[in-house]
Amino acid sequence: MRVLAIESSCDETAVAIFDGGRDRLLAHRVHSQTDVHADYGGVVPELAARDHMRRLPGLTRTTLADAGLDLDAIDAVAYTAGPGLAGALMTGAAFAKGLAASRGLPALGVNHLEGHILAPLLGEDPPSFPFLALLVSGGHSQLIEVREVGDYRLLGESIDDAIGEAFDKSAKLMGLGYPGGAALSRLAEQGDPGAVAFTRPMVNRPGLDLSFSGLKTAVANAIAAGCAFEDVAASFERTVIDTLEIKLKRALEQTGLNRLVVAGGVAANRPLRRRLAGMMDERGGVVHFPAIELCTDNAAMIALAGYRRLVAGERDPAPGFRVRARWP
Ligand code: KG4
Ligand code: ZN
Repeated sequence: MRVLAIESSCDETAVAIFDGGRDRLLAHRVHSQTDVHADYGGVVPELAARDHMRRLPGLTRTTLADAGLDLDAIDAVAYTAGPGLAGALMTGAAFAKGLAASRGLPALGVNHLEGHILAPLLGEDPPSFPFLALLVSGGHSQLIEVREVGDYRLLGESIDDAIGEAFDKSAKLMGLGYPGGAALSRLAEQGDPGAVAFTRPMVNRPGLDLSFSGLKTAVANAIAAGCAFEDVAASFERTVIDTLEIKLKRALEQTGLNRLVVAGGVAANRPLRRRLAGMMDERGGVVHFPAIELCTDNAAMIALAGYRRLVAGERDPAPGFRVRARWP
């Protein structure tokens, strides 16, 4: 079964084709809208939806050409049905369902978060089940026990800002543009991570929930007090990584798992990858990260998650579509 997938939940338009029979990604393309939103310091939902609509037909043609296929070679269509920006989701869903209907193909709406968590299955060394997943993106920070595809238990999550959001808001305060997570991390390389003593949020409380809005405020205070940006960036990054390490150790002990998957845009953060690799090494466990380009939003992960469910017989119940801006 060859699955063509569409991702449009936020500010990336993406198309991918996954061949289930050969367990191989045939092609994937991502068009980032960063330029569209740069002047506004954040994603403008209306502009995002319009740009998805403009880009989807061409991007689909190019992705098919990359794979050396035409539409006749596609067996099913998957698309991100949520969570995300309602208008952005709707343009992708309408496009995907239109394509499927015009070809008489089965279609399935996929949960974007499930896509992120399963992204490492596209790698050379895919994790086996069960595993502990840390999902860290611009919209979510969650710890999830993954028993199988479709069998998930939420262990803890951020009670306020997502980690990526804390990176982006802190970066904005330092004039690093939007989204500034990666730029903040580059700046941090030049700073002293011990320069500013930030409190690690919620580590002294039991449980696996996270919180990052206080840390963002502490960053604003440090900047107002005149601390050097690179020192603030380095201290902020270390505090986030320390906090995640503490919570992850707790979650591994609680679940008895020794296999970890780290996914979502913030999983592209190199110091975080190094630290968690070291932590799992010490415990005699393993950690799996998606390829860097599959950490941030893409359709390859949607194609894979869609394929796993489509081969199991799942289909959208009706030819129309329904998107879910919130979808736990
Ligand atoms: O998964 P993603 O593309 O979109 C959501 O579903 O939210 O994640 C984007 C987030 C942004 O907040 C971005 O700043 C952050 O991932 N990010 C990073 C890095 N690369 C991307 N944060 C820290 N370090 C990075 N290297
Ligand atoms: Zn995402």
